[in-house]
Amino acid sequence: MCGIVGYIGKEQAVPVLLNGLAKLEYRGYDSAGITVFDNGVYTIKTQGRLANLAEKIRQEGQKPSHIGIGHTRWATHGAPSDRNSHPHNSQNGKISVVHNGIIENYLELKAFLEDKGYHFVSETDTEVVAQLFEYEYDGDMISTTRKLLQQIRGAYALGILCSDHPDTLVAVRKDSPLLIGLGKGENYIASDIPALLEYTREYYLLEENEIALLKQDEVKLYDMDGGEIQKEVYHVTWNLDAAEKGGYDYFMMKEIMEQPEALKKTIQPRLTEAGIHLQDISLTEEEIKNCGRIHIVACGSAWHAGIVGRYVMEEVSRIPVEVDIASEFRYRNPILQKGDLCIIISQSGETADTLAALREAKKQGIKVLSIVNVVGSSIARESDDVIYTWAGPEIAVATTKGYTTQLSVLYLIALYFAKVRGTLSEARLGAYLEELATLPERTAEILKMDAKMAEIAKKYAFSKDVFIIGRGLDYAAAMEASLKLKEISYIHSEAYAAGELKHGTISLIEEGTLVVAIATQSSLFEKLVSNVKEVKARGAKVLAIAPEGETAIEDVADEVVYLPKAGDLFTGSYNVLPMQMFAYYIAVERGCDVDKPRNLAKSVTVE
Ligand code: G6P
Repeated sequence: MCGIVGYIGKEQAVPVLLNGLAKLEYRGYDSAGITVFDNGVYTIKTQGRLANLAEKIRQEGQKPSHIGIGHTRWATHGAPSDRNSHPHNSQNGKISVVHNGIIENYLELKAFLEDKGYHFVSETDTEVVAQLFEYEYDGDMISTTRKLLQQIRGAYALGILCSDHPDTLVAVRKDSPLLIGLGKGENYIASDIPALLEYTREYYLLEENEIALLKQDEVKLYDMDGGEIQKEVYHVTWNLDAAEKGGYDYFMMKEIMEQPEALKKTIQPRLTEAGIHLQDISLTEEEIKNCGRIHIVACGSAWHAGIVGRYVMEEVSRIPVEVDIASEFRYRNPILQKGDLCIIISQSGETADTLAALREAKKQGIKVLSIVNVVGSSIARESDDVIYTWAGPEIAVATTKGYTTQLSVLYLIALYFAKVRGTLSEARLGAYLEELATLPERTAEILKMDAKMAEIAKKYAFSKDVFIIGRGLDYAAAMEASLKLKEISYIHSEAYAAGELKHGTISLIEEGTLVVAIATQSSLFEKLVSNVKEVKARGAKVLAIAPEGETAIEDVADEVVYLPKAGDLFTGSYNVLPMQMFAYYIAVERGCDVDKPRNLAKSVTVE
């Protein structure tokens, strides 16, 4: 969702900005633009892809500027159009602004400014920031920014240029991520690390309402009161390769194939001879023993991971678990009691609703343990405890390795809690830990089905509707599989608890409708076979995912994909893998832009 880059230094700004924006394309966008200096502020922007912007720049001629800001916009206020694209400039043409987030009181501010004679040309909330900056401008960038911050409400990451200060770039943030990249004789701003990696590995993480003043040779940081502050310099530990496709057609397939390695990095350091070692948490054994209820809160696929987490956690630790969608949780006045624990799950660590849910839980006085992939992200910083998924950067909008590493952490937490609470026998716990340790290799084994899934996907690529059914952990996988299919292939799909289908949805099954039956848990296998018979009798075509050896399924399904046999508890980590590949190959077959599906964003930083 919206990407910001900014540059000040000795190089030509335009190529640096375009290159940085290209690295942020994965976040999702529908228009793009830049501002540089050419005897004053010069802005060029357009609806559509970055290639359109590059072409427009080529036609108008590249300006020889050494400073600039750039933006990819994911429309919120106002349709995707040239006019609504960023950067937005003030009326006198001196101020230019890029913004990620939402200014909640923009209508109020707009009315105020219109009253003062300001004329607006876009429908965006961002234009208000540029105009207000002009209105409050006192010749000093920092004091004007402070006046701005006192008046705007909402979420923002802002990059600001003013033609009176051609050697200065200002950046500030609240609730939307923004990094300050530190180079030699050049400095940068960016929404995310991939935009910086080609130029520098050193960066500052801006905290809420900290203001950065970037010059070619220095970066100064200020708090809201204008006092100068010092901050820790972070160092990126991963390589640019991690953010490149490395020979794959799409990031999504690269990330699917990275799952065994990501799982190994996430699980291994936490599984020692002595059992599970969660070095990252401060939660005491006493707190775990007395935990009354767990509230898992997340969005999208992370919410599906939470559903798997509930089955596993309740099964092994016998703590009641509720799973909520963050955007619901935050507004439904949830009942959280002393001794409850909130588990927040987020790949990016920046999802606006999830962050708000975290704050709600903290406001109500319960501890928050988060499962996050991006180190130093807002959710990681605001949680009491964080367990990182070491999946590395995930670029494709549709999550794969982010999701399966979240599952592995949920297994770790569940088994750790079970150990502390004594809810599993030593023998059973030992067996579970052994199986958990083999998860990376078993995942690698299943991913070898790649070619088979491609072949199957070809047959069903032009289905109109797909129903995916399962029970228990297979139901959670059905939900995730259905989301993957919808996200990247645009096929209408629904996930159903297999036993629930006959309460309505079965009326949609007609001759030839594709039903995918996920039936990987031995304990529920026969029940699933009965459900498959019900849809078969109504003309469905059935693709089944079943454990090796359960050949009875062949009598009812049209096609079967067998998975290596696993203990029922861990099927939650395996059953989704063939479906990731299925969705991927269907999307490829249909000619979809797999990594950047229409209308979607990787990191959803607005509510
Ligand atoms: C977006 C992405 C999903 C993701 C969800 C939650 O909708 O497209 O793939 O599951 O956000 O993101 P998070 O970063 O909080 O896990």
